[in-house]
Amino acid sequence: MEKKAESLERAKRAAGYQAADMIEDGMVVGLGTGSTVYFTIERLSERVRDGLTITGIPTSFQTAVRARAANIPLTTLDENPVIDIAVDGADEVDPKLRLIKGRGAAHLREKCVAAAAKRFLVVVDEKKLVEQLGAAPVPVEVLPFAVMPVLAQLRRLGCEPVIREGVKKDGPVITDNGNFVVDCTFPAIAHPERLEEALDGIPGVIGSGLFCGLVARTTVIVGSAKKVNILSSADIIA
Ligand code: 5RP
Repeated sequence: MEKKAESLERAKRAAGYQAADMIEDGMVVGLGTGSTVYFTIERLSERVRDGLTITGIPTSFQTAVRARAANIPLTTLDENPVIDIAVDGADEVDPKLRLIKGRGAAHLREKCVAAAAKRFLVVVDEKKLVEQLGAAPVPVEVLPFAVMPVLAQLRRLGCEPVIREGVKKDGPVITDNGNFVVDCTFPAIAHPERLEEALDGIPGVIGSGLFCGLVARTTVIVGSAKKVNILSSADIIA
């Protein structure tokens, strides 16, 4: 058991560090949220100590805390509406590099930051690679005012929606934006783009954890205990 946890950590570190080594001097870098991208922040911290000059845009309160502790200067999308690169984790990656994100409830800001980036590096361990998206629930950020009609509409799309509950907090998780997260389990996701569009079209849904629109700029860095593989849209077989 201990061995498995260690090799998973090694895989995440390998992917996270590889992404950090692809960051160039002077870049504005989107900093994602989650255990894999925190290895990127760890390595960036070493590189900043050795003279790398970058500024980061955090995708969550938690990442801002980590980045400050790592001495990475921070900026905002207001100051930098277009950024050089974003690095983030994912919960599932399919063969066309479409993603499910949002286990950490940060997917709304993560999508805004990734969409503002010229390049999007996704750091994962190999267990995140799937043939078809949908074993993980699709998290949807929802305006609390509209949660009941949104749940009804989500059921009509064919999923089992569950409002995410806090740990050590009674009641729903509240995102960094003050909203709820509804986790939607679909029997299968045959057409991720169509589903993302349908979810985005529900009044009261602010954003889903399906990331289908960024494939052309996406590079997926897959860590395993022994090596790192790099997948980009050029590798996709139509
Ligand atoms: C947070 C996310 C994370 O990036 C995603 O859940 C992957 O996290 P980890 O690297 O810890 O597996 O989307 O909202």
